[in-house]
Amino acid sequence: MIIKESSFVKSVTNHIQCPAPTLHEIAFIGRSNVGKSSLINMLCDNKRLAKTSSTPGKTQTINHFIINKSWYLVDLPGYGYAKVNKSLRQKFEDFISAYLINRENLDCVFILVDSRHEPHKIDLEFIRWCGEKNIPICIVMTKADKLKPAELEKNIKNYQDTLFLEWAELPPMFITSAEKKIGKEELLEYIGSIVEE
Ligand code: GTP
Ligand code: MG
Repeated sequence: MIIKESSFVKSVTNHIQCPAPTLHEIAFIGRSNVGKSSLINMLCDNKRLAKTSSTPGKTQTINHFIINKSWYLVDLPGYGYAKVNKSLRQKFEDFISAYLINRENLDCVFILVDSRHEPHKIDLEFIRWCGEKNIPICIVMTKADKLKPAELEKNIKNYQDTLFLEWAELPPMFITSAEKKIGKEELLEYIGSIVEE
């Protein structure tokens, strides 16, 4: 699919304030600083669409963007951001989980993980939680430009092996770099198969 038009709709901190659930919707989630906002901008070819920052914790609201006037792309805050205090973190996690559970038009959650690292406990817990709640997911490895090909291969295999410990079938997986525009076509094709049906 081709993204011809992308624009910001609104930022909210409560799923009840989200736009009316009349269009297909996908959401990007993952640890703080993993590259969610950067990947959204790369896919939409619009550097100013979602706000990015080298400081973790930049995105703190549920942000809706409308794409091609026909579906919603959502940028979510990062989970597991250590620097916010515990009660604020809990508040964050509560409104994100309420959104994920209650958003009736949400078709798929794209879970972003940093391709440089071993699977993190918090990501594995989140993947398990989505499984329990029957929320469709896929895994997107980010920042692939930061690794040598052999290291990348090793980390992909490691991730798959870890997921196979709990899952009979793996969710779709994508390898991306917002910096080098790696994985753009594959990801857009998959998103198209979801939102254009
Ligand atoms: P929060 O909103 O804070 O949760 O972060 P986020 O997941 O939206 O991350 P963001 O897109 O703001 O990117 C975080 C940092 O990683 C920024 O400094 C980006 O420039 C950098 N970054 C993101 N994607 C890539 C990538 O593909 N390659 C490289 N080398 N850097 C990246
Ligand atoms: Mg962000």
